[in-house]
Order: sequence, then C-alpha cells, then structure tokens
Amino acid sequence: MPADGLNRRFLLAAPFALAACQGAAPAGAAPTALPPLKSIAPCPVGVCAMTGHFDDPAWVDLATRHFNQITPEWEMKMEAILGEDRSYDFTRPDRIAAFAAEKGMRLHGHALVWYSQGAEAFTGLDRTRFAVEYDRYIAAVAGRYRGKVVSWDVVNEAVAEDGNGLRDCHWSRSLGQDGYIIRAFEQARAADPDAVLFLNDYNLENNPVKGATFLRLVERLLKAGAPIGGIGTQSHLDIEIPAGQITTFMKDAAQFGLPIHVSELDASRRRDGGFDPRSARQKQDQQTARVTELAEAYLSLPERQRFAFTVWGLRDSDSWLTRDARAGSGDSPLLFDATGAPTTMFSALAGAFRP
Ligand code: G3I
Repeated sequence: MPADGLNRRFLLAAPFALAACQGAAPAGAAPTALPPLKSIAPCPVGVCAMTGHFDDPAWVDLATRHFNQITPEWEMKMEAILGEDRSYDFTRPDRIAAFAAEKGMRLHGHALVWYSQGAEAFTGLDRTRFAVEYDRYIAAVAGRYRGKVVSWDVVNEAVAEDGNGLRDCHWSRSLGQDGYIIRAFEQARAADPDAVLFLNDYNLENNPVKGATFLRLVERLLKAGAPIGGIGTQSHLDIEIPAGQITTFMKDAAQFGLPIHVSELDASRRRDGGFDPRSARQKQDQQTARVTELAEAYLSLPERQRFAFTVWGLRDSDSWLTRDARAGSGDSPLLFDATGAPTTMFSALAGAFRP
C-alpha cells in the first residue's frame, strides 16, 4: 500500500472510473482521455465482431482504438458457411478476414466444429461419406484462412452442459466421442500448421465440475496425441459465484503449459428467472469483483500462456445477452455502454491490468 495510504490501483483506475461516471460520451466519440485497453493490457485484447459492425463508424472507431484482435461472432461458423446442400459460402468470413487485415488486427477463427451446428448438412450420410465431408469442411475452411488467422477454436463446447461427461451430438455419434475431436484437430493442423489450435468451452469457472471434466478431456486428448495448442475458457461469468473459483480454475488450466485464451468474456448482471433482490450497486460490485478476479488470475499466468483476453461484444447493446427481446434492457455485461462510454467493468479490467 503506497505511503499516501491510497491503493495505487485506485489511483491508476481513477481516470477510468471518472470516465465511466461521466456518463454517455457523444455517440461514436470514445473519451480521448481513456488510454486504449490494448496499450495497458498484458496480452492481445480481442472483441467479437460481425460484418454489420463494419458499416457502423462508431463501432469501428471504438473497436480499433481499444482492441488488436477480432473473433467472428458467428460468420465463420458452419451456419454462415455451409449450406444444407453442403455448398460453401465464404462471403461473410472473407469480409471479416479482410477487415482484420486492413486494420492490422489479429484474427481468431471461431469455430470449426460445434455440437450445435451442421446436423442438417450431414444428415443421411453413411459413416464413410460423413467422415469425408467432415474432413473436407475443416480442410477447406482452415486452409482458406491459413496465414489470415493466428488461431482457431477447433472444437467448441465438447463437454456436457452439467459437466458430467461429454456431449452426445451428430459428430460424436458418427465419429466417436473423443474421435471427432481428435480428427478435427488433426485436420486443422494439416490445413494450417501455424495456427494455435484451441479447445474452447464455457462455464468452466462457474461450474467446477465442468471445469474439471474439461481439463481431464484436455489431458486425455494430449495423451492421445491430439495437436491441441491452447485452452479457450469462454468466461461468460456468473457474477454470483464464490470468490476463488475463477482463480482455482485458471491455476488448474495452467498445468499443461499451454496458451490460455479468455475467449468470450461478458459478465451479465441479470439473474435468470425469479425475483432478484440485489440492488444495482450490489450487482455492480459483484461484477467488479469477479472481473477483477479473472483479470488477476490471468495476469498470474506466465506471459507465454497469456494468448489473448477477448470480450464477447463491444458495447452493451452489441451483446447477445441484450439482443434478445426477452432479455429486456438494463443489463450491462460489457466494457462500454450503448453510447461507447466505458462502464465500471472497463474500470475494473483496466485497473487490474495496469501494473
Ligand atoms: O444478423 C442476422 C440477420 O441478418 C438475420 O435476419 C437473422 C435471422 O437469420 O440472423 C442474424 O444473425 C444471427 C446472429 O447471431 C446475429 O444476431 C444468427 O442467425 C444467429 O445464429 C447468431 O447467433 C450467434 C450464436 O453464437 C450462434 O452462432 C450469436 O450472435 C453469438 O453471440 C453466439 O456466440 C456463442 C459462441 O459462438 C460460443 N459460446 C457461446 C456464445 C453465446 O451463445
């Protein structure tokens, strides 16, 4: 604690807190007093994007000022590329790759294989043809963006929702439970020898059972020789979890010595269903505490394991959490509000990141 008794971190975070309290900046004008997040972060900082954002100058200005990495929110997935007739349309992902290159931003590919997509196009294929089309898709997509992406979420959300075992899906039923995962990593490695290949999942901090199952899966796949190059923890944080869970998962995840990507951070202040007795201040304080814990746990990793820290949306209004009409207004899960002004979550993250 410095001689003046004030916590140094508070002093460093004060400009951010002040900016957050100054309320809405004119739409599109990021408060210039705010140092770019990418200039104070201990690693690349990413934001998810979709092509519609590129036609919004306010989004482009704010995103390129604060971030140096992009993840396609949905347009590099099967739903955007693969037709039900198994035709390929790369229009949207190509535009994202071009934007990243134009702005000098790293591009993280998301996601080659996901349990929730692709079933229609693979329905009715016998085992042999299924495997051929599976390999063909991964080779085509990972091959197309070789030299354009720095990394891929090769398999997304392989662990069961409750953390007990792995998901049963069209991929596992045809190619085997671990088999489809190992195959995807091998195909991706063959198509792009330079990309860092991630296994990505969510609720790993929120649900210790799921986090442990995920890490056992990583260990098993590595032992099987799968070319896993990184661990992606989505970090859609439940801000009501006990202190320490995030820190424990990050320490456990570090055991493999692999790069770790906080890949989809948001921290909703809403509680699903039922009456929520928490005051606005209580929710803000919970969010600040858990986001700070995540940032500090990430900072405790060796530099070689700090791949990137990515948020799942630029402004609160861009979030998948607020986009659904049922979600209603009032949530603030991201670093900037709808006007582009920093939120208290930005202050928390910037305060933790600053040395
Ligand atoms: O923008 C189009 C619109 O033009 C069209 O009229 C409409 C109806 O087809 O679709 C709109 O695109 C939707 C897009 O979100 C933007 O709203 C897609 O259909 C919809 O599938 C897409 O959902 C995305 C979802 O993944 C599925 O791909 C969400 O944006 C995205 O936030 C969400 O992200 C996932 C991660 O990939 C994995 N981890 C969980 C995370 C949240 O679910």
